[in-house]
Amino acid sequence: RTPSTPDGNPEMADVPPSTRERDAEPPLIRRENYAPFPWLVPETHLAFTLGLEETLVVATLTLERNPAADPSPAIRLDGDGISPRSVAIDGEPAGDWWLDDGDLVITLPAESHTLRIETVISPTANSQLMGLYASNGMLCTQCEAEGFRRITFFPDRPDVLSTYTVRMEGPKDAFPVLLSNGNKVAEGGEGAVHWAEWHDPWPKPSYLFALVAGNLVARKDSFTTMNGRHVDLAIWVRGEDLPRTGHAMESLKKSMRWDEEVFGREYDLDVFNIVAVGDFNMGAMENKGLNVFNTKYVLADPETATDGDYDGIEGVIAHEYFHNWSGNRVTCRDWFQLSLKEGFTVLRDQLFSQDMQGEAVKRIEDVRLLRGVQFPEDSGPLAHPIRPDSFREISNFYTPTIYNKGAEVIRMMRTMAGPERFRRGTDLYFERHDGEAATCEDFIRAMEEGAALDLAQMRLWYSQAGTPKVDVTLAHDGETATLRLRQTVPPTPGQPDKQPMPIPLRLALFDRESGRHRGEELIVLAGEEETFSWSGFAERPILSINRGFSAPVTIERDMPADDLLFLAAHDDDPFARYEAMQELVLGHLVAAVGDGLSDQAIEAGRAAIGEALRAVLNDPGIDDAMRGELMMLPSQTYIAEALLVADPARIHAERESLKAWLARALESDLLPLYERTSGAVAGMDPAARGARKVRTQVLVFLAAGNPDRAAQIAAAQYDGARTMTDRQGALMVLTGLSAPQRTHALIDFYNRYQGNALVIDKWFSLQASSLHPAAIEHVKALAHHADFTLRNPNRVRSLYMAFAGNPHAFHAASGEGYRMIADLIIALDPINAQTAARFVTPLGRWRRIEPGRAALMRAELERIAGQPGLSRDTFEQVSRSLG
Ligand code: PHE
Ligand code: ZN
Repeated sequence: RTPSTPDGNPEMADVPPSTRERDAEPPLIRRENYAPFPWLVPETHLAFTLGLEETLVVATLTLERNPAADPSPAIRLDGDGISPRSVAIDGEPAGDWWLDDGDLVITLPAESHTLRIETVISPTANSQLMGLYASNGMLCTQCEAEGFRRITFFPDRPDVLSTYTVRMEGPKDAFPVLLSNGNKVAEGGEGAVHWAEWHDPWPKPSYLFALVAGNLVARKDSFTTMNGRHVDLAIWVRGEDLPRTGHAMESLKKSMRWDEEVFGREYDLDVFNIVAVGDFNMGAMENKGLNVFNTKYVLADPETATDGDYDGIEGVIAHEYFHNWSGNRVTCRDWFQLSLKEGFTVLRDQLFSQDMQGEAVKRIEDVRLLRGVQFPEDSGPLAHPIRPDSFREISNFYTPTIYNKGAEVIRMMRTMAGPERFRRGTDLYFERHDGEAATCEDFIRAMEEGAALDLAQMRLWYSQAGTPKVDVTLAHDGETATLRLRQTVPPTPGQPDKQPMPIPLRLALFDRESGRHRGEELIVLAGEEETFSWSGFAERPILSINRGFSAPVTIERDMPADDLLFLAAHDDDPFARYEAMQELVLGHLVAAVGDGLSDQAIEAGRAAIGEALRAVLNDPGIDDAMRGELMMLPSQTYIAEALLVADPARIHAERESLKAWLARALESDLLPLYERTSGAVAGMDPAARGARKVRTQVLVFLAAGNPDRAAQIAAAQYDGARTMTDRQGALMVLTGLSAPQRTHALIDFYNRYQGNALVIDKWFSLQASSLHPAAIEHVKALAHHADFTLRNPNRVRSLYMAFAGNPHAFHAASGEGYRMIADLIIALDPINAQTAARFVTPLGRWRRIEPGRAALMRAELERIAGQPGLSRDTFEQVSRSLG
């Protein structure tokens, strides 16, 4: 044990040995090996006798041979860590069955059978949070992707659709509320025990099954669909959380209406239930008629949730609701098609949020996320196409590539077709594949026919990984402007050579004289190299390209600072304005970090950035939400991406010193801006929200340039805060400073919100992601805090994801940060492998880091790889990362 391993962590002790043993390398599953399952399961009946320690599951399945599959003399039902207590076929105890690698194999002679299987599972012992588990005294399930096989033996694959009837029985006092998919059809019970039976009329794959039992209360409401169906809505939470469910409910109703109006999609059951649970591996889950959510994406009030949290809730509620069509009514044939539902649904939730909050800012946020997490994935050892060809553990493929790049690919189709034709494409897709388990190819074909697009070459976006780079040069000769574009798609693991892909680029050419352009155009770069020309330009125009971020590519161009300044101030595409600011700063920092700049060049670069930023701070023509975006400097990750090999310490130092310089140079603009935005304090209206965003950005600058002043202002903001946004913003800044007010605020925050898990998560996060030079020591201490536990994914992420994303701490030259993350992975793997494996990503970046640190990172990966009994999840990520 290395010293930073939580000593004598009780969570290490009681891990059952079975989960730690694995003798052979987990097999590689290949997309090309898809074959339909030999049996159909028309009906599934599940009877649960519920208990936290022990739950009895009786599954009764009707089976029929699948005429579309190769016949088989036996049936193989997936199982994971369970064993059958009894197996009966057609009412008789079955003899001819055996377990093979956890699966149940049964010889079946006839064309159709009824199969009855009993299993006993232990929800309390389920720390993986997959299958049926206990959380805060309640029982709930998580089945995507392969959790159902931890409940009962079943063909646990998305192309086996079945109609479910679920009976739950249990103690009334512990589980007064009993929920499952579909509608409640019966209930009863005497004395201490009661039961309920639910029926879901829509055939579904096992990953959409859900059950919840617990002491919950609901916020109830209703919605009438476009064809007059009355839907009872309920959001189920613990009693004390009820007052914080209003925003989630409003978001749900808005989502339901929006999907009718924009995609023509109507809800299809009489009830829609949402349950919030505090222990959850992901954000939320779209189980049919019974969405299960991480509390983080349900609970909010202005006192405890930030404006960002509010947006997160609105987006995730929408996302899960939209899955009812893009995911549930039309599901996936196999897990290689995951982006079919996820990419499309992310696009749908992005468009929804754009409509709710304003297109420009939402687009900037989405692109920042893409560049912050997906671009690095695409340029690292875990790069994979949005439709992967193989995997060992599907949980590892719930990635920014599948989700966010997947959304970008469909967005490109929408950009090329326009919204009306795109809608015809999605209509055809839903109509043609309703009730089916479909493929990405099905989607593309529906889009080709419905939207009248030729997507032949577009298919490459599904099969090739890597972020394309487009080199741009604009020449001017006489009256003609000639744009020359050249694309390269970089090699990625398993894909050394790439073909050129279609890249739709929205562009405009600004006339220097008038400062205007003649109208935006959409061009598609399809070949490796193409030229486009325009006449009638007396002078060389200023190019605005990839407006709205029409393609998920990196643009390389050598643009004079003056032209970037022009676009930053005048481009009528808000994204392009943001982009010009980013490019201006990025170019400067990359040069400063790289070859080092002369003092003169540094001065000139800073002056140009200062001029642009001053304009942003004072421009009355932009709203504060947009101003807040334009004020953000490119992240360290994004800067590192622009370099072949990065030195995190240099990037950090250069970025911080630029920030400090800007803060000093612009102090006389920043302080009045802070004053002005302090007028609007509370309220959720766009103006108040925008003001809060700007205010925090101002504090971020001041903290770099004038820490004493910043500490004073932040402490005052903290004390007077009427929203969590203001309080958290102030605390974030204070936490990064070595000011006396820091400790006071941290103690106050903890005491004020003790017992509110989501807010205490913020408290952990702020310290782990802080600019404080001792952040690494703080994280070590927090790992021993009484409120820290490896059993709760939100808490683990709040400390360690924040830390791994804090470059100056994670990349400490000693390698200590790497060691801490490796220790965490080793300790967490037996408890929650899915969550543990997600921490491999930051270590996997070693190839792009300077050699000294790279060796330390690699050594930690090797140390993890050497652990006996590693989970499939972590094994796969570590071995890919070592490559
Ligand atoms: N399907 C869920 C979503 O995207 C994510 C999820 C995956 C949740 C796996 C839990 C487990 O909405
Ligand atoms: Zn999803």
